[in-house]
Amino acid sequence: MKKTKTTKNYFKNKNIVIFGGAGFIGSNLAIELVKKSANVLVVDSMIDIYGGNLFNLQPIIKKVKLNFSDIRDIYTLPFLLKNVDIIYVLAGQVSHILSMDDPITDLDINCKSQINLLQNCLKLSKKLRIVFASTRQIYGKPQYLPVDEKHPLEPVDINGIHKLAAEKYYTLFNKIYDIPVVVLRLTNTYGERMMIRNNKQGFLPIWFGKIFNNEKIQVFGSGSQLRDFNYISDVINALLIAGENDKMIGEIFNLGHHKYYSLFDVAELLKKLVNAKFEFIDFPENLKKIDIGDYYSDYKKIREFSGWFPRVNLEEGLKKTIDYYLKYKKYYL
Ligand SMILES: NC(=O)c1ccc[n+]([C@@H]2O[C@H](COP(=O)([O-])OP(=O)(O)OC[C@H]3O[C@@H](n4cnc5c(N)ncnc54)[C@H](O)[C@@H]3O)[C@@H](O)[C@H]2O)c1
Repeated sequence: MKKTKTTKNYFKNKNIVIFGGAGFIGSNLAIELVKKSANVLVVDSMIDIYGGNLFNLQPIIKKVKLNFSDIRDIYTLPFLLKNVDIIYVLAGQVSHILSMDDPITDLDINCKSQINLLQNCLKLSKKLRIVFASTRQIYGKPQYLPVDEKHPLEPVDINGIHKLAAEKYYTLFNKIYDIPVVVLRLTNTYGERMMIRNNKQGFLPIWFGKIFNNEKIQVFGSGSQLRDFNYISDVINALLIAGENDKMIGEIFNLGHHKYYSLFDVAELLKKLVNAKFEFIDFPENLKKIDIGDYYSDYKKIREFSGWFPRVNLEEGLKKTIDYYLKYKKYYL
């Protein structure tokens, strides 16, 4: 029987560090790990333009340890990694557009810090397990669909190049030094706690920001580009499995969804669910140059290794996300 869930009590009393734990995915992961009785240390730099938000941690604020430090700070890392069993690396400069405007910051956070983290892990007496969040952006413009892990890697922007380098550091340290590493390549992830207050991250967070500011959503071009989407609970489930399943060590896996949509379809869905207004505008030049066209993933590999598959469809996930922001939007805008 293939495992689709984590073993009961596997995370109980495990010491887990989540880098980027106040951000969208990291905070949702922290909440799940606390439910599983793990000892969670959230590390986050809380730099204003990124996705960190202390309200994200509100349900568990008294149950986690919080350390406001920057993953670039080489002096704090040895202290943070003491007696740890698992590290989740979700800290990152995630904006494609910011990576083009400020490539050096992207390099420092997404590459240099990652090598530094790995080197610190090497110095530890026991081998701690690392789960690294990579991105589908590293494939660049798909040469075929759905995109599997064997697809050529031709990133179209600085962020994609740096995330690709980072996942290579992680897999190299696994091969050479036997550090137990699992890499997940995430596709568009959405849900409660995503950062919606600026227009620097993915198109869905930007659209949510517009909807809750009573502004029109802007659909670039004809809106015909295809995308797949994972609701946050499916991604958290994959992260938990990656923290436990030993067969996955040293491997790279796509996440994704079997159902894909055009951006126009997504706008129509949001119109139906929350009366979103939208307009078509020309593709802004700076974004057009780094757009990847149509993309959706083949996630057979992770399904074969672990039984994972996405359980939440887009309409259901969007409804839950809308309900969350209707309730808590003042903490996010
Ligand atoms: N959300 C998606 O659709 C998506 C898709 C593909 C890949 N990913 C990857 O998943 C990871 C998490 O993304 P997210 O959507 O939760 O983003 P997010 O911006 O909400 O979270 C990232 C967190 O990292 C923190 N951070 C940034 N720089 C830091 C630094 N130097 N030191 C310490 N903390 C720092 C931020 O404050 C933020 O809390 C990222 O690595 C991203 O590349 C996300």
